[in-house]
Amino acid sequence: MMRETDRISPDELKAFCVAAMQAAGVTAHDADTTAEVLVTTDTWGTHTHGTKQLRNLLKNFREGRMDIKARAELCGEGPGWARFDGHHALPMPSSVLAMQTAVKKAENTGIAISTVNNSGHYGAAGYYAWLATRQDMIGLSFTNVDPGVAAPGSRGSVLGTNPLAYAVPTGREHPIMLDIATSVVAASKIYALRSLGKPLPEGWITDGDGLPTTDPGQYPLAGALLPMAGHKGYGIGLMVEVLTGVLAGGAFGSDVLSWVFGDAKPVNQSHTFIAINVGVFEPVAEFKERTDALIRQIKNAPKAKGADRIWLPGEKEWEYREQALANGMSLPADVRASLQGLAEDVGITAAFLA
Ligand SMILES: NC(=O)c1ccc[n+]([C@@H]2O[C@H](COP(=O)([O-])OP(=O)(O)OC[C@H]3O[C@@H](n4cnc5c(N)ncnc54)[C@H](O)[C@@H]3O)[C@@H](O)[C@H]2O)c1
Repeated sequence: MMRETDRISPDELKAFCVAAMQAAGVTAHDADTTAEVLVTTDTWGTHTHGTKQLRNLLKNFREGRMDIKARAELCGEGPGWARFDGHHALPMPSSVLAMQTAVKKAENTGIAISTVNNSGHYGAAGYYAWLATRQDMIGLSFTNVDPGVAAPGSRGSVLGTNPLAYAVPTGREHPIMLDIATSVVAASKIYALRSLGKPLPEGWITDGDGLPTTDPGQYPLAGALLPMAGHKGYGIGLMVEVLTGVLAGGAFGSDVLSWVFGDAKPVNQSHTFIAINVGVFEPVAEFKERTDALIRQIKNAPKAKGADRIWLPGEKEWEYREQALANGMSLPADVRASLQGLAEDVGITAAFLA
């Protein structure tokens, strides 16, 4: 039994994930890509969307929500755009391929967009945005999700938590990387408080009448999450839905199904990726210097009483990752339990779980 204090290196965790996927029938290439996405997410401290998700992802294949043999297919393209059919394949390889395609096209066009329909749960939106920064481009990443979020005035949910991420290449500073759901909080935070028997803070969810409640038991069956920042978050979540499900020719709104709850039918999420080649606007080195200068301007701004630091989006994740790469990670108990269950599901063992 793994102990709370045990630390695991990202490499060891990745090797375990690859072995688990290969035992389940995933190809070596797709297993490597998927493990890279999930383990990187853990190294950012975003453990809710890291390797914890692999067990459910593989369950999606066993149950028929996804197709383990499928690969994303390029269905249409132009100089600055590409459209993929995800064919219900493992979402991470499809998403990496789509962002890489956008980056490649943006080398010539300055900006490019790729869409993927018929996909599943792609994890943390930020990973794919970050991929673009590694080629000196600004990256944007979006996905729709099955409905769980209310609109102002709705009883029940009309949109998913529809996350968005952007990442910006920098010079000496860490890349800027904002990676957020467009709901006021991620659903996992409701479940965490419910399991502790605690009430929710005001303003997180509504009940079955569409009215505010602090009772975590109301979500997801009766009530809905609220959008971040009221009508503003609602409008941005709607933009994500249009850029993904509608633009990708995929399912949208109530036709997107849960990858965890309900009938085991195809999930039908869609994702969209945009790459902006900063080098066509100004020399890359100059762009990076200017972005670094902006970051320092913000960080050096006067601090509010009691505050000792101003954070940039992504900064907490980069600091966590530095520690994870140097000293390994202490995985939260729910992640360890999920990995243990995964090992049992696919019939493998791992030293770090012993
Ligand atoms: N695939 C899906 O279906 C799905 C759905 C919802 C969310 N998600 C993922 O869940 C994860 C968590 O989402 P969330 O909404 O709970 O995120 P969150 O509210 O924890 O916000 C995280 C983001 O805010 C930034 N941040 C935090 N504190 C900051 C500060 N003081 N100043 C500046 N920036 C700061 C972080 O660097 C990070 O970019 C994300 O990776 C998201 O993509 C995925």
